[in-house]
Amino acid sequence: MSDLRQRHDAAAARLAEYGQGHLLRFWDELSDGERGELLADIEAVDFARFGPLIETHVRGKPAFDPPKSIEPPRAFPPQPGPDQQELYKRARARGVEAIRAGRVAAFTVAGGQGTRLGYDGPKGGFAISPVRNAPLFQLFAEGLRGVERRWGRAVDWHIMTSPANHDETIRLFESANWYGLRRGQVRFFKQAQAPAFHQNGLVALEQKHRIALSPDGHGGSLAALRASGALEQMRAAGVDVISYFQVDNPLVKPIDPLFIGLHLEMGSEMSSKAVAKAHDHERVGAFCDVDGKLQVIEYSDLPEALAVARNPDGSRRFDAGSIAIHVISRELVERLTDPRSAAPMPWHRALKRVPFVNDAGQTVNPSEPNAVKLEMFVFDAVPLAKNPLVLFTPRAEEFSPVKNAEGDDSPATTRRDLIRRAAKWLAACGVNVPRGADGEPPQPIEISPEYAIDVDDLKERLGGRAPHVDWSKPALLA
Ligand code: UTP
Repeated sequence: MSDLRQRHDAAAARLAEYGQGHLLRFWDELSDGERGELLADIEAVDFARFGPLIETHVRGKPAFDPPKSIEPPRAFPPQPGPDQQELYKRARARGVEAIRAGRVAAFTVAGGQGTRLGYDGPKGGFAISPVRNAPLFQLFAEGLRGVERRWGRAVDWHIMTSPANHDETIRLFESANWYGLRRGQVRFFKQAQAPAFHQNGLVALEQKHRIALSPDGHGGSLAALRASGALEQMRAAGVDVISYFQVDNPLVKPIDPLFIGLHLEMGSEMSSKAVAKAHDHERVGAFCDVDGKLQVIEYSDLPEALAVARNPDGSRRFDAGSIAIHVISRELVERLTDPRSAAPMPWHRALKRVPFVNDAGQTVNPSEPNAVKLEMFVFDAVPLAKNPLVLFTPRAEEFSPVKNAEGDDSPATTRRDLIRRAAKWLAACGVNVPRGADGEPPQPIEISPEYAIDVDDLKERLGGRAPHVDWSKPALLA
């Protein structure tokens, strides 16, 4: 009890300093257990860090400095041009060498709340593959096993969770026997959280004894890599290349030798994959050259005139859509998170619907956005990196995220795209894939990423022979 009292007094003094004393207003009504939870929440919030943001990002909006020039970025094409043949060959070989030397680790950000999908559980547990119904995590694990089969080296996998889904994520892996990976190969760490603010600058209470907290964005992954010790562990293991991807895109190549090799050949500290935008207003960020620096402009910030601008040949001028696949040098993360010289990642403000407890102690479920959440975005590290580069990749090969419950970027479109890609790979191996009236294969098709990591790998595994496929039932290569 005296411990609670002491912590209460320390918290009250700190809150008073930052004008957030209201967080303790229900103290007298709380049980000791609830008091402990509230104090833990308060102690976990870095008020010194968020205090200055209240004026600039909560009550106000960060000033937007209009750039002098915005140009399309220089980018590497998916297939090398005549003068790039040698570079791509060298890069691929260098990527393979780096994998074999154990310099590469996979890194998945899986701390998001997945509100749009509305799935009850960590998104990585969402069943997505068209035949086996394998969850997202399993497909990434199989991708890593495919890499090990192909190049003879196991790759470590770091997974960032959030306090809300951490334990559940580890339980998923345990119950799936680590999806066939070695236990020590997979490491989990939690990202930090940021409080939600009422628009007057006061931190919101979600319950009388809980602050409204949410993960601090995928950009929080850099600080979390350091704070968790993952960065240190990578250094000790000789890993200097981090292959970054999101939990929602099962088409990703978790480890791509060409991409890694280009990153190394060009002396880049942060490399990014892009796809040609599906249409002018697709909700993906656009890679742009802003006053001479590569950066991602969010779809909502790209001026309309630029979103619709065309090249003389009619193609879209700002066409490089960001798909959140990066290769990041460990050194960049070390530099950006060094407490002595940190170049801070900017915060973004988003007005969201956040349920809260009002002064009368009632829970309010607002129907309109009512509170400000603060998040960092990983692509804001791009302009802070040396020699950042962009590699275009065909969308059908590598990008189809599960974001929404229905419509675009939903489980239905992701499954469709997994099937289409598998059909294309089989056709490239000489299989005559029948098509229904809708132009799609008559049955679901699935190729486990462990069986083949790409079409060339598939060709090699099949030894130049087209496999027989019985089209009266779903087709599985696993
Ligand atoms: P999204 O931007 O799609 O957000 O995350 P989300 O939270 O998953 O989903 P919604 O917006 O609530 O529907 C893109 C990727 O970044 C990760 C997600 O887990 C996903 O892999 N992410 C996002 C984090 O790891 N932490 C965050 O704070 C936010």
